[in-house]
Amino acid sequence: MRLPTEKMKKIQRAGIRKIFDRATAYENEGRKIYHMEIGRPDFDTPDAVKEAAIRSLKAGNVHYTSNYGLESLREAIAGKLVSENKIDADPERELIVTAGAVEALALSTMALLEPEDEVLVPNPCFTSYENQVIHPCGVPVPVPLRAENGFMPALEDLEARLTAKTRMLIINTPHNPTGVVYSRKVMEQLASFAVNNDLLVVSDECYEKIIFDREHVSMASLPGMKERTITVNSGSKTFSMTGWRVGFVHSSAEIIDYMLRVHQDLVICPTAFAQEGAAYAWKNTAALAAPMVEAFKQRRDLVIEHLDQIKNLDYVRPEGGFYVFPSIGKLGLGDWEFCHYLLDEAGVAVVPGLAFGQFGEGCFRLAYSCSMEDLKDGLGAMKKALEKL
Ligand SMILES: Cc1ncc(COP(=O)(O)O)c(C=O)c1O
Repeated sequence: MRLPTEKMKKIQRAGIRKIFDRATAYENEGRKIYHMEIGRPDFDTPDAVKEAAIRSLKAGNVHYTSNYGLESLREAIAGKLVSENKIDADPERELIVTAGAVEALALSTMALLEPEDEVLVPNPCFTSYENQVIHPCGVPVPVPLRAENGFMPALEDLEARLTAKTRMLIINTPHNPTGVVYSRKVMEQLASFAVNNDLLVVSDECYEKIIFDREHVSMASLPGMKERTITVNSGSKTFSMTGWRVGFVHSSAEIIDYMLRVHQDLVICPTAFAQEGAAYAWKNTAALAAPMVEAFKQRRDLVIEHLDQIKNLDYVRPEGGFYVFPSIGKLGLGDWEFCHYLLDEAGVAVVPGLAFGQFGEGCFRLAYSCSMEDLKDGLGAMKKALEKL
């Protein structure tokens, strides 16, 4: 029997699991572990969102919805895109409700790439991006994000990797794993680069609401970009709904029509009553998200206060999401060696930069999606452990 395939061998399982498994093994032995490796909010979904889904379930909404998704949800999302993101959105033809942002990413690459098409992927990045390009036989082209450039993509790095086959650019702001937010100027430069080179842009904006004292700029709101941008978003982070699996994708009616042909064969539609909960959430975004964003801001401030006291750890100030990506260049340890040392010595679980791609090497991702108490104690333990090196 010949099993598939050379293609699948290029798909990596997430490196984050390895740290999580080691941390869990310690926990099972009774050790206190500070979980700073997990990229999901630790809050519960707001009650009002749960109640909307429960009401819907009890009312018998247990059947397929339209392939585009529940109408009331699409209307809520379109309203939000127009008023908050300055993206002109038609709920009838320009939106699909997806099973999280991950399905939206998959639809983008599966519907829009031909085999061998190249996709520029600024790196380090969310672990799924490169795989999403490989699944439909495209070729991911990592573009370095450099700490000395504040982890902003540099035009010369993008231009150096352009070929006749380059078809798409995937961007993400606020950014996982670095926590940086792209300024309007950077977004405008990326937009001109896409227009000048006739590229599609997948813009992953799923951390847009978790942003501190900065403006979120949506790629599709910039002049000339709506037709070539695929905006990806979800309630996973904004409303702490990772397990609900409801996201969305917005683009031109033509692109959405192609994406719908993939979506109908993958999931038909996300769970009907979960969509009803998401509709409530997107209609009440500001009120629901505000307490979590405030909590993340306090944690971010606490984290940088502690990092500032640790010698030999440099970092770029995080301004969104719930991540920081410090450099371990001065410590003389490899990425995995460093993370294992921190876990073994201090009980602090963080993820090696290499788990986010080749240009993440020499850094680690710390997720401050745990309690203030754990952050304080964990960062104290980290400081002590690093002083021993
Ligand atoms: C940048 C980014 N995009 C997408 C996702 C996946 O989101 P969802 O749960 O909506 O599929 C994540 C999850 O960590 C992420 O960090």
